[in-house]
Amino acid sequence: MRIEVAVNGEQREADVWPGESLLFALRERLGLPGSKNACEQGECGSCSVLLDGTLVCACLVLAAQADGHEVVTVEGLADDGALHPVQKAFVEAGAVQCGFCTPGLVVATADLLARRSDPSEDEIREALSGNLCRCTGYQKIFDAVRLAAR
Ligand code: FES
Ligand code: FES
Repeated sequence: MRIEVAVNGEQREADVWPGESLLFALRERLGLPGSKNACEQGECGSCSVLLDGTLVCACLVLAAQADGHEVVTVEGLADDGALHPVQKAFVEAGAVQCGFCTPGLVVATADLLARRSDPSEDEIREALSGNLCRCTGYQKIFDAVRLAAR
């Protein structure tokens, strides 16, 4: 089936299999490998994207469900080559190691700060509770969120 999706502000079309995930379509059909495939079961958040402004795991959404909707991936956060403040904060705070979880954490943090410009510690932890990092121990990630909020 053919789908048409507004991805990062651009109208895109793709031929997809009916059971195909949005994550697969983004990575393999639309050339956007920023969203990572780590568990494919909705457990790790590495594939987080915004679907019509709502944070979702792209591995749990069918590509067909995105037909006619808007998707923002981590590639869509930078503004004309300039890093998004959350991306800058992750770099400055040293919150990136292997980087596999980083795109999902950046998208989830951008979503949090768009809703709550000055989140509490508990709100930060809750907002990122669906994003698993196997490398950094989270302290630098939380530092990056606080830095981005500032
Ligand atoms: S790859 Fe989607 S939640 Fe892990
Ligand atoms: S930086 Fe490696 S999984 Fe998070």
